[in-house]
Amino acid sequence: MKNSGTMMLVAAAILSAAACGGRSKETGPAGGTAVETAARWTIGMSQCNLGEPWRVQMNQDLKTEAALHPEIKVVFKDAQNDSLRQRAQIEEFINAGVNLVIVSPKEAAPLTPPVAAAFTKGLPVIVLDRRVLGDQYTCFIGGDNKSIGRAAGAWIVRRLGGAGKIVELKGLMTSTPGQDRHTGFREGIAGAGLEIVFEADMKWLEPEARKEMESALSRFNKIDLVYAHNDPGAHGAFLAAQAAGREKTIAFVGIDALPYEGQAYVRQGILEASFEYPTGGKEAILTALDILNGKAVPKDITLPSRVFTKDNIDRGGEWISGAKTPQ
Ligand code: FRU
Repeated sequence: MKNSGTMMLVAAAILSAAACGGRSKETGPAGGTAVETAARWTIGMSQCNLGEPWRVQMNQDLKTEAALHPEIKVVFKDAQNDSLRQRAQIEEFINAGVNLVIVSPKEAAPLTPPVAAAFTKGLPVIVLDRRVLGDQYTCFIGGDNKSIGRAAGAWIVRRLGGAGKIVELKGLMTSTPGQDRHTGFREGIAGAGLEIVFEADMKWLEPEARKEMESALSRFNKIDLVYAHNDPGAHGAFLAAQAAGREKTIAFVGIDALPYEGQAYVRQGILEASFEYPTGGKEAILTALDILNGKAVPKDITLPSRVFTKDNIDRGGEWISGAKTPQ
């Protein structure tokens, strides 16, 4: 008890020191010696979990861009996939007096009140990748999940020639990308003769997806394709099919397309397609700088997305229609 209390005090002290202006390294005028400079602004970043490669990549993208701007310091917190913990983290950032908050929320409803509380107090909040409810935030940055789902649906209809039995492994349905990747997909396959024989919420997690796929395999002798809302889910389904000796008769499609995850699976022939879901880390830092410098920013920044297949991966994939493409 005593130890954890002491640790909390130490953590609070570190956070408030950071909020009063963090320190960052800068290269000296001669280009050699590194000198310490006080950052002008502190950004608090609450990441919903770091158990998935995509989130580790998002934090890396934030750090890489932040390192180019010595006037900011970013304090990272990991909510460990716990919405209550994430709510508390935003409240801690408000109390510590950070200059701006970036949050990638686990779930929409539980994170809406703390984000709104910060926003109404005048503390700018950038919501990254998963949305909150309503419009009490400064800026939302993310891919267009509905368009990605729709493009995946249209791709799957073409791949199966308009007929086939599908398993849909959904992302956490209390998070907006799960909802949008589902709705978009159903729009994309509307009117075609595809049959969804099994659907389950695998909560974005590979082990959950594997377990759900084991149930699907035990119930259905014929499955033509698995549409999973992320690449870890598609990979979990592949492993279940492989253990049952059925991976060669089923096609697997996922979303994220990290170079060393989804794109690698496409190269290895594990996935037939992976749809890119950009992390938005760099864009979040650039937008934060605009806000801190008093510039107006759009309420919504939509990031473009590509599809990777074995036929296009060496050309860098193909931009999907419907979602915004780069200018
Ligand atoms: C990581 C992740 C990604 C997915 C995103 C959706 O936590 O599950 O795989 O694309 O979240 O918010």
